[in-house]
Formats: sequence, C-alpha cells, structure tokens
Amino acid sequence: MKKVLPILPAALWALQQHTASAAKEVFAHVIVGNLPAFTLSDWEFDIRLAQASKIDGFALNIAAQDPSNAASLALAFQAAAALNFSLFFSLDYLAQGAWPADRVVELLREYTGEKAYFKVVEDGGGGGGGGGRPLVSTFEGPGSAGDWKGIKDAVDVVFVPDWSSVAAGEAVELGGGVADGLFSFDAWPEGAENITTDADKVFQEALGKGKKKYMMPVAPWFFTNLPGFGGKNWLWRGDGLWDRRWQQVAEVQPDWVEILTWNDFGESHYIGPVHENELGLFQSAGAPVNYARGMSHDGWRRFLPFYIDVYKTGRVPDSVGEESVMAYYRTAPALACPGGGTTGNNPDGGEVAMKPEELVEDSVFYAALLDTDQGVTVSVSIGGKVSTGKLNEVPAAGGGTPGVYTGAVPFDKNTGDMVVTLSRDGKVIATAEGGKGISTQCENNVQNWNAIAV
Ligand SMILES: *[C@@H]1O[C@H](CO)[C@@H](O)[C@H](O)[C@H]1NC(C)=O
Ligand SMILES: *[C@@H]1O[C@H](CO)[C@@H](O)[C@H](O)[C@H]1NC(C)=O
Repeated sequence: MKKVLPILPAALWALQQHTASAAKEVFAHVIVGNLPAFTLSDWEFDIRLAQASKIDGFALNIAAQDPSNAASLALAFQAAAALNFSLFFSLDYLAQGAWPADRVVELLREYTGEKAYFKVVEDGGGGGGGGGRPLVSTFEGPGSAGDWKGIKDAVDVVFVPDWSSVAAGEAVELGGGVADGLFSFDAWPEGAENITTDADKVFQEALGKGKKKYMMPVAPWFFTNLPGFGGKNWLWRGDGLWDRRWQQVAEVQPDWVEILTWNDFGESHYIGPVHENELGLFQSAGAPVNYARGMSHDGWRRFLPFYIDVYKTGRVPDSVGEESVMAYYRTAPALACPGGGTTGNNPDGGEVAMKPEELVEDSVFYAALLDTDQGVTVSVSIGGKVSTGKLNEVPAAGGGTPGVYTGAVPFDKNTGDMVVTLSRDGKVIATAEGGKGISTQCENNVQNWNAIAV
C-alpha cells in the first residue's frame, strides 16, 4: 500500500502565518572544535561541497575557552569570504561551560562585521546593499539567558538560541523574552517511532506563529559511544528519518532550517565528508572503535538541492532534473556483534532505555529522486544476492509525480558489497554503491551503530 505524506495544504497554511519575513535559508551546524587541524583549503573544500548542495551557510559551534577557536575562525572567515558563503556563531554553552557575557560581546564585535558573517535582512531583501543584523545562535545556555539583554545592547544582533532543554513556551519568555526566535534541537524520534512535526508545531505556536523566527532542525542519524564524554552511549532511530524530515520541512515552512550536522562525527549525524584530520575525538574520548572512519555519509547530500528548492519555493518542480538514487545501511546485523553497551534512547535525558535492536532495522534503506515512478524497478544486491525493492513512500502529490520515493529491503542474512540499482523499463537509470559491505564481523568486536550513506 502506498502511503502519501501531505505537504502542500499545510505549507500554504504555514505561509499564511507569516507577516514580515526574511529570506528562507538552510544552514548546517559545524563543530569547530573538531577542526583544529583544518587548513584553509580544507575549509574551502567543505564550503564548496556545501554550496553544491545549496546550503547557504554554516552555523559555527564554538565552545567557550577553546584555544583553537581564534585560528579556526580566521581560516573559516577567509575561506567563506572568498567563496561568498555565510557563517554565524552557535555558541556552545555545554561543551566547556557557559560563555562569559563579556567574551560574547568581544567575539561578536570582532567577527560580525566580517563580510561572510550572516546578516538577517527582513522582508525578502537580500539583494545587495548589505544591511541587516547579524544572526547569533547557541547550543543550550538557558541559564545564561539573563546575559543577553546586555549583549544585545552592546551589539545589535538577531538572537535565535537553541534552548531545547526547556520547553519552547518557557524558552520564549527567558531573559525577559530576549530571544528573537528559537532553534530546536529536537530532530530525532524517541524509541521506534517515526518523527512527527508535533514538536515543531509547539515551537511555532510558542513563537507566535511567525512573530518570532523558527529554525527547524533536520538530521540524518544519531549514534554516540564516547566514554570520555560523560559516557554518552546511545542511538536514536535514523531509519527513514532524513527523507521524511525534509518532507516535513516543506510542510512546516520554518523561517530557517539547520542541518544537524555537517561534521559531528562523535554523534554520527554528519553529512559532510569524513576527513582523517577531523577524527581526533575518537581517541581523546576513548571510543571503543572509530565509528566514522570509512563511514561516508555523502549520499545524504545528494537530494539536498531538490529538498532545499522545494522548501524555499513552496512547490515541487515539474522535473527533478537528473533522476538518481541513494542508499543507507548499517554495516552489520544488530545481533552480529556485542552492542557496546549502547542503549536505544537516552536514559540520562529521561527517556526509557530500549535495546538498540528494537530501534534499528537490519535493512538497506534507499531513496530515489524521480520524475515519476512509472516503470521503475529497484534491485538491491548484497554480496551478489539480489532482492527486488518497492517504492513504498511516494511524494505528497502521489505516485507518478516528481519527487522522492523511498523504501527498504531487509539484509536477510546476506553479507557482502551493497549495490542499489534503479531501472526504468529494463534500462538502468542510476546506482548507489561503493560503501563498505555488510558483514557479521565488527571492528574491535563491537557494533558500529553508525550507517553508511552512498
Ligand atoms: C562573490 O560575489 C561577488 C559580488 O557579488 C562576485 O563579484 C564574485 O564573483 C563572487 N565570487 C564567487 C567565488 O562566487
Ligand atoms: C513509520 O512509517 C512507515 C512508512 O510510512 C510505516 O510503514 C511504519 O509503520 C511507521 N512506523 C511507526 C512506528 O509508525
């Protein structure tokens, strides 16, 4: 049975809620603390990849007191200015404690005048002439909300924190209502559920339905096992998440979108490339295995230009351009190797601990960007054993229309290289392949709950 996810009526509803508006933008969250070894050309390389995906800018997550910030920021702003890319700060209040208010003012005075620093231009605008106010966000820090009136008096910024550890209705009142909008970090479903837009609706409601800005989060996956970082060791369900969530972005029509993340390898939700010089944390945090090395997530960028266009224009184009396919999968069946103590859900965050195998499915998930599914077949080969896949979930407008179609086939005990082939009327249209194969052997005999996306 085909399942149709509604997009357009709700999108129209959301559009009507907006009064004054700035241009829609899509950012990706970058953990600057992973990048002390990044060179100027590394920054340029990643920025070019982000631009090829139609991402507008990076939200630079910076921890207070991190001695590598100054050098990293200098390179980032140099690269972004040369490439016409945008950057803004996402001040991390957890990684190394709260940011002192005077350091924030100093930092904003130093960088918000940079050409590449992202400025919010109200009422569409955007067309040259500069102007606009710099955007500043956070990762957490509701306890420091009282600092922000003073910070904003010193530097005129648009302040859109992530204070997701408190309820949206409470966050919007903090510091005397100092936030100009809110960024949610609620990008993953709990347990074996599918993600919904319920949390997004709560944010939009709390923000006065467009009176204040809403930055909506989108993530492809979540797995962390870092003993040195407070023993954090859990996964959330990523099966079916990415494509469903982008449909929800089209439906919710938030002011802005922030992808979680570009390079958070420690939590396995990166969509940027894996550079060896970014992986130091696995050693410093005593991870039982380097679960990002060799685990490309490049496939999750493939449909971004399409998703971002649909979000920004509020409509699906008549043609998707080049038809293509991507696939993602874990590289071992859930019960093949010891689970490494990883729980499904985060019990420290008040969720019920589940067995990881209750959240994840031993399947190859695929998504196809098509003008129509007419005459299209999907075959999934694991080690040469071929199964036929279905395209169960179809675009909002129904089967036979342009958009992303998704499905999955179980591993079914097969092991070996994974290839998804998309054909129409017997002719191959596209393939997704080239990732590490599926195996019952695990590196260091511990499950890698991360996925590959090709
Ligand atoms: C950046 O934008 C400027 C001004 O619009 C333009 O002249 C320049 O060619 C652009 N550079 C790149 C690399 O796109
Ligand atoms: C999630 O969505 C898929 C596809 O629509 C559906 O088959 C599945 O039953 C849903 N799972 C839950 C827990 O709702």
